[in-house]
Amino acid sequence: MAIVAVIVSYLLGSISFSILFARWLRKIDIRDHGSGNAGATNTLRVLGKGPAIAVFLLDIAKGSVAVGLGIWLGDGNDWISVACGLAAIGGHNWPIYFRFKGGKGIATTIGALIVWAFLPTLIAGIVAILVIVFTRYVSLGSMIFAVWLPILFYVFDLDAAYIWGALVVAVLAIVRHRKNIVKLLNGTENKLGSSKKGEP
Ligand code: G3P
Repeated sequence: MAIVAVIVSYLLGSISFSILFARWLRKIDIRDHGSGNAGATNTLRVLGKGPAIAVFLLDIAKGSVAVGLGIWLGDGNDWISVACGLAAIGGHNWPIYFRFKGGKGIATTIGALIVWAFLPTLIAGIVAILVIVFTRYVSLGSMIFAVWLPILFYVFDLDAAYIWGALVVAVLAIVRHRKNIVKLLNGTENKLGSSKKGEP
């Protein structure tokens, strides 16, 4: 049953709500607009606040549902819960329904990790929000959120499965944000609330 849970989690994660909302509302491919990313931040840029909030919550939900499925079908085995969370994040980043070109996985990561370990994820989330409020760089807040998680999980003395899971999450987040890192370094990264720029 574990393999079924992981496959279903990947298929669930592959449902890219930003791509679907952009198609339904504007008949466009969001990956051709703004930063080109299929995620809530770019939905805010391209479609506005309402759709962005909906995409953010739905992307979080699919991470949580995937881990819930892992707990259920995996009889509470921590490694299966972790595998399902990572499969959902992988689906979001490389969606099978959308030519494997998806997002950066942060909202889905939030959804998965609040089920893995609520308190440390909340703390990392608060730090990320503060970074975003003060710098207006969502990408910087996202990366700090992800990189900080394995450390917090270790400090909270969580099971090895979750610490390894958080390490994979951190690596995935950095890899997916590599273009943002270049832009942050050369000062061309989009700021929250600034006019639309960036290339697909
Ligand atoms: O979670 C995605 C965010 O960190 C960056 O998105 O569209 O600014 O590249 P974007």
